[in-house]
Amino acid sequence: MNVFITGCSTGIGLAAAEHFTAKGYQVIATARNPKSSEGLQSLDQSNDSSLVLPLDVTDQASVDTTIKKVTDEVGDIDVLINNAGIGHGMSVENTSIDKAREIMETNYFGAYRMMKAVIPTMRAKGSGTIINISSQAGRRPFFLQGPYCASKYALNGLSETLAHEVAKFGIRVALVEPGVVRTPIFGKNALPEEDKKHYEMLQSRTVRMITKGLLETGCDPIDIAKCMLDIVVSESPKMHYLLEQDARDNIRVYDEDGPEAWIKDGKIEDDDEYFKVQKDRYGYDLS
Ligand SMILES: NC(=O)c1ccc[n+]([C@@H]2O[C@H](COP(=O)([O-])OP(=O)(O)OC[C@H]3O[C@@H](n4cnc5c(N)ncnc54)[C@H](OP(=O)(O)O)[C@@H]3O)[C@@H](O)[C@H]2O)c1
Repeated sequence: MNVFITGCSTGIGLAAAEHFTAKGYQVIATARNPKSSEGLQSLDQSNDSSLVLPLDVTDQASVDTTIKKVTDEVGDIDVLINNAGIGHGMSVENTSIDKAREIMETNYFGAYRMMKAVIPTMRAKGSGTIINISSQAGRRPFFLQGPYCASKYALNGLSETLAHEVAKFGIRVALVEPGVVRTPIFGKNALPEEDKKHYEMLQSRTVRMITKGLLETGCDPIDIAKCMLDIVVSESPKMHYLLEQDARDNIRVYDEDGPEAWIKDGKIEDDDEYFKVQKDRYGYDLS
């Protein structure tokens, strides 16, 4: 079975490529610059059943070239895992439209482009699995992550719609929605100077939430990779996989309390009061 994964240079994508390879699947592990990823290089050298190829999901020509190469060399794609993504850490007010577009282009249109590339063949064969790596941020908002949340909400809407449209063709679509996963993504977005004037309080709360998540409640990329494999082997996969407990708690509380409670929290100036509210509501001790 051929498993095609995007964004495999680091983090969840690399863990998935290693995990599926170890379980005997033919893996096509892609990245913008495979040669700059030590993990991918060692996967490439140590295993005959994995094919490592360059792919930029924002570039249609790159998608076309890579899909053609895969079809020619290993055959049809049975499983597509849309994992490539970029994070964000800036207020809606100060994010440039160009930056917001880049996030959408990668996290939403990148996955869309890949799905359009594989659906015709999966439909013709009457089988296929598409796994989209979304986020808990596709189910509830997080401050200073507006464009990121928007891209993941959009991906969720697209995936649920697609799942209905292609069910009769034997194509399964699932969303994996992690909370905090210990990957390099958090080091890739410095908190910007532009937000220092009006959003500095949210910047320091972001740092505390991420630190807490990374140190205590987060999971490792392999946990997400194992879930992907469970979806592939499942007779009847679900639509949503919220991982792990942090994400499940976050979404449960957000759904119970509603957006008004979250908006009200945005007015709290005093950190001690804010952290107490968070602890009471979500169980996090951020103080
Ligand atoms: N870590 C978390 O807490 C978390 C939580 C929820 C959801 N997620 C989602 O999980 C996915 C993987 O993230 P991660 O945490 O593993 O972060 P990561 O280590 O930064 O991995 C992201 C991957 O996406 C690739 N990528 C970025 N832009 C690309 C493009 N235009 N074309 C192809 N590949 C591109 C990166 O490649 P380069 O090396 O070329 O940049 C990298 O391989 C993302 O969709 C992210 O939104 C992560």
